[in-house]
Order: sequence, then structure tokens, then C-alpha cells
Amino acid sequence: MIFETILESIGNTPLVNLAKLSPNKQVTILAKCEFMNPSGSIKDRIVDYIIRDAERQGLLKPGGTIVENTSGNTGAAIAMIAAIKGYKAILTMPDKVSQEKQNALKAFGAEIVVTPTSAPPDSPEHYVNVAKRIAAQTANSFRIDQYDNPKNPEAHYTTTGPEIWQQTQGQCDIFIASGSTGGTVSGVGKYLKEKNPNIQIIMPDPIGSIYYAYFKTGKIPVSGNCSYFVEGVGEDHLAKAMDFSVVDDVIPFTDKDAFFTARQLAREEGILAGGSAGANVWAALQLTQKLTKPTTIVTILPDSGIKYLSKMYNDAWMQSQQLF
Ligand SMILES: Cc1ncc(COP(=O)(O)O)c(C=O)c1O
Repeated sequence: MIFETILESIGNTPLVNLAKLSPNKQVTILAKCEFMNPSGSIKDRIVDYIIRDAERQGLLKPGGTIVENTSGNTGAAIAMIAAIKGYKAILTMPDKVSQEKQNALKAFGAEIVVTPTSAPPDSPEHYVNVAKRIAAQTANSFRIDQYDNPKNPEAHYTTTGPEIWQQTQGQCDIFIASGSTGGTVSGVGKYLKEKNPNIQIIMPDPIGSIYYAYFKTGKIPVSGNCSYFVEGVGEDHLAKAMDFSVVDDVIPFTDKDAFFTARQLAREEGILAGGSAGANVWAALQLTQKLTKPTTIVTILPDSGIKYLSKMYNDAWMQSQQLF
């Protein structure tokens, strides 16, 4: 089979049984390898979907500029697609984003604007506000708006959810995905719940994010500052793409939980994935210990570990951050 462009290889990612990691032989943990999308993450799905829709609606015109705030993966997807389709890409991101991710965007020819991670959501320096400002000031620009765009969860409702249902032949009891925009957990969760309302949807959330407290109390805590190291998950503000009505539980996790499990995933299953993948698998392993009947858990490996070789896969960095 010959693809006209690399974009045709987005989606239809493998679902892999993590048999060596599961401590409970009654429980099957299946991992959807989203890092196998062409720019190395699950974000290829939503960006491809949103850009095609914007082109159809005339919101993005030839020679236009795509602007977005991103923790790197959405940026890589945008930069890749902009390169193929001849758009300009301007991407804003907090300075905690790994150097590998920043360099990848530049390699695709995108312009990047790095902002302080510590800037609060209402600050003009916050990466979301910087992106909004750039979009407003740039002629013929289009903002993906991944946090508030309903097309984000719709992309997962239309692709990731049905793929999981088909790959498991409907044999899925629990779905686990940590969230930032919430697009993945909301879109897949909605699809799976429509197929079978008994499927449990679980969202791991890093300590320091607002989502856990918001889910439990309905209030946004003032302490959410995203000062944890895991990239791409948790939030300091509520995203409109996040639909808690399909979420059954939120489980808090630490950097150590995520990073140690990701490193274990590499060494025992030969799968080199990122920190949020580690968090998702960690949550699956926690649930596995409590389950007493045959259960299938499906979880997501959102991005590649190659994006974090200088951080969580680097022993010196782990030691310097007191994570060892
Ligand atoms: C590495 C990583 N994992 C998980 C996610 C969460 O995905 P979503 O935005 O669909 O909630 C993201 C999103 O940026 C990410 O970059």
C-alpha cells in the first residue's frame, strides 16, 4: 500500500497486551500505542481532524497561519501538517516542555514562543493567552483551540473510540486515560459508554492539577499550578473539551508513579513511551490489584519516550530532581 502523504498513516494504532506487567492474571491490560502516529503522539488525530474541518468550512485558507498553545505534541502535529500543506505554524508552550519536543517543532519549520510555566492562567504571559494574542494579531490565521474546540473530543469519538471497540470486539470493562484538554477521555469515554454504559472510565490526574479536586468537589482549587514534571496531562484551568459526565473516577498520581512505570514499560515490555503513558499504566496496575474477576482494561500510550530521553529516561536528570 502506498500513502499519498504521511497523514494517511494517522490512526489505526496497535493495541498491545501488557502481559508481563499485569500482576493479576485475571486482568488483561491492553495499551493503545498512540506514539506510533507519524509525529509521535495521539495529537495527530485531533489536529488532522480539526484542520480538515477548518479547510472545508473556509476557516483556514491557502497560505494561512496556524496558531496554537501546546505542550509540544499538538505543536508537532500542527508543524508536521503545516509542512505538508504549506501553512505557517506559530506555537506557544510553557518552558517545562522538553528540549526534544521544542526541537522537533523547529525541525518541521515551525516558529515557537516559549513562556514561563509559572505564569497563572489569567496572566498575559500564560501560553494560552499568548497564543490568543498572536492569533488576533496575525492576518489569515486559524487557532486550533484544542482546549475549547468540540472537534477535539469529536475526533476521538469518531476514530479512537471505534478503533478500541473493534480491536477488543466489545470486550472492554475499564478505559483509562489521563487528560489535559480532556479530548481523549471525553471522546473515547462517550463512545464506549454509548456502546456499553457499564464500561468504567477512569482518569489519572497529576497532583498539582485542578481536575482531581474539581471532580470530587465541583470547585476549582486555587492551588493548581501544574508544577509537576509529567508533561501533557493535568491542568490549571477547566477545558471545555473536558466532559466529566462520562468519567467515573479520577485517581491522583505523582511524577514518581508515572516515571517509574514508564521506565518499567520500556524495560519489561520493550515499549518506549512518555510520562503520561506511565501514569495511565500505573493507574491500570493500581486497579488490577483490587480486581477479583476477569477484566479487560484498555489504556492509552499517548506519546513516545524518545521525546523525553533527556529527562525521565536520563538517570542524572532523575537524580537532580530527587526522583530517584
Ligand atoms: C503526552 C500527553 N499525554 C496525554 C495528553 C492528554 O490528552 P488530551 O488533551 O486528549 O486530554 C496530552 C495532551 O496534550 C499529551 O501531550
